[in-house]
Amino acid sequence: MAPMQLTPASRIQEQQSPSMSSDDSVSPLRSKIFAAEWPLDEQIREIASTVPSHSFLANPAGQYSCIYLTQFVKAFSEKHFGRSFSSVRVLDWGCGKGHVSKLIRDLGPGQVNSCDLFSGGGHSTFGQEVPIIKHFDIQVDPLQHEYILPYDSEAFDVLLSFGVLEHVSNEPASLGEIARVLKPEGLFFCFFLPARFSWTQWIARKRGEDYHDRLYSEAKVRAILSGIGLEMLDIWYRQLLPKNSVHYPKFRMFERFDLFMTEHTPLRQLATNIEFVSVKRR
Ligand SMILES: C[S@@+](CC[C@H](N)C(=O)[O-])C[C@H]1O[C@@H](n2cnc3c(N)ncnc32)[C@H](O)[C@@H]1O
Repeated sequence: MAPMQLTPASRIQEQQSPSMSSDDSVSPLRSKIFAAEWPLDEQIREIASTVPSHSFLANPAGQYSCIYLTQFVKAFSEKHFGRSFSSVRVLDWGCGKGHVSKLIRDLGPGQVNSCDLFSGGGHSTFGQEVPIIKHFDIQVDPLQHEYILPYDSEAFDVLLSFGVLEHVSNEPASLGEIARVLKPEGLFFCFFLPARFSWTQWIARKRGEDYHDRLYSEAKVRAILSGIGLEMLDIWYRQLLPKNSVHYPKFRMFERFDLFMTEHTPLRQLATNIEFVSVKRR
């Protein structure tokens, strides 16, 4: 499957709500990387198929978004820093099952640190079975504090939140720590934030599966970043279709349809996630 034809940035700006993207040079790269064809990680699929709590990673549609998001992290970092990913130090914050750390590690960064709350519940590395972490011998730094990170200031080029920020108990303090441990011009990628008008979140609530207490609008995301020295580079909606437990016959085709709907139609407002990349200004 060939990568999707790029839409000129100015057209994307027109089609999106006016403030959705802050930098014309970012969203075309995102569109290209998200829509390209990437291989699944078969090792992760095999390990995940043995543990029910990991089943979404054995499901191609569930695993795939982690694949292209990590590819985006690499491509965007190289463009932003103007150097190879092999010189980039990454923190996988709240790494849970460890699959993102494994995927990033395979992309050849300078270093990946992984950490998770030591006293966390069932979603923490330290509160569940972690066959991926064990198999790939991923060292996970235990966080003894709800928001203080055990790293020097300006230690990382890139910090990843894959479904973490919406779970922290003190959001401003955690964001302050993120800004502290990032180097000047360092990048904070925030993925899987549950969106304010998401239809899947609405159904989960109706069913009593109230997993996410906090939901995020674009205005809220911009507000939480203001005043902590992180500048928004790009913000977007993703995932109109449920992925983790639904088995699509041609998952890449469904993914590309989904990406089209969230990029080019107003239905994006109903998507499950709102996501962004921001930079720490000097
Ligand atoms: C939904 S899980 C996501 C795990 C993993 N990032 C992934 O992609 O599957 C949420 C994670 O956030 C972690 N977490 C919650 N509060 C945290 C905090 N204050 N600091 C760091 N991690 C936290 C949890 O322990 C858990 O690992």
